Amino acid sequence: MIPEEEVEEKIRRIAARISEDYQGKVVHLVSVLKGSVFFTCELAKRITVPVTMDFMSVSSYGDQTESSGVVRIVKDLDVPLEGKDVLVVEDIIDTGRTLHYLMNILRDRGPASLRLAALLDKPDRRVVTVEADYTCFQVPDEFVVGYGLDCAQQYRNLPYIGVIESESK
Ligand code: PRP
Repeated sequence: MIPEEEVEEKIRRIAARISEDYQGKVVHLVSVLKGSVFFTCELAKRITVPVTMDFMSVSSYGDQTESSGVVRIVKDLDVPLEGKDVLVVEDIIDTGRTLHYLMNILRDRGPASLRLAALLDKPDRRVVTVEADYTCFQVPDEFVVGYGLDCAQQYRNLPYIGVIESESK
């Protein structure tokens, strides 16, 4: 769906905007495992202001294709967020349930600022309102994989965004 060069070019542009917006600050990236690791690394490499990073794992899908709405913290952050300029990094906003829950939890921890960067946004699937401050691509309601996104844990390592076609097609 989206070739590697196009993904990288878009990440470069988003990183430039973030570098501009966070002038004079340290941006604390909160990467939501596992899907966001590729986007987080590529984004972090291109940000020119100082960067710190932490990782959190929140599961809402398991190996299902539909969000359950039950969000579970599998691994919490190592470092408190109080006073930090936090940028949450996600691979995809789908129904919005995960991010809605997560952003509320993180806001309660007292960061100086809290923003959201998403590699992909699937607005057609939204159930709960969530707006990313930085979005690389809006995608249609198809089963996208690659660049961190999985299908039953596979295909995360594809260096582009692909689509799983259903067997009936
Ligand atoms: C994916 C993605 C988001 C969430 C988005 O995570 O990384 O966290 O689903 O879906 P939603 O908007 O419908 O809540 P997943 O639970 O698949 O875990 P993973 O990152 O480990 O693949």
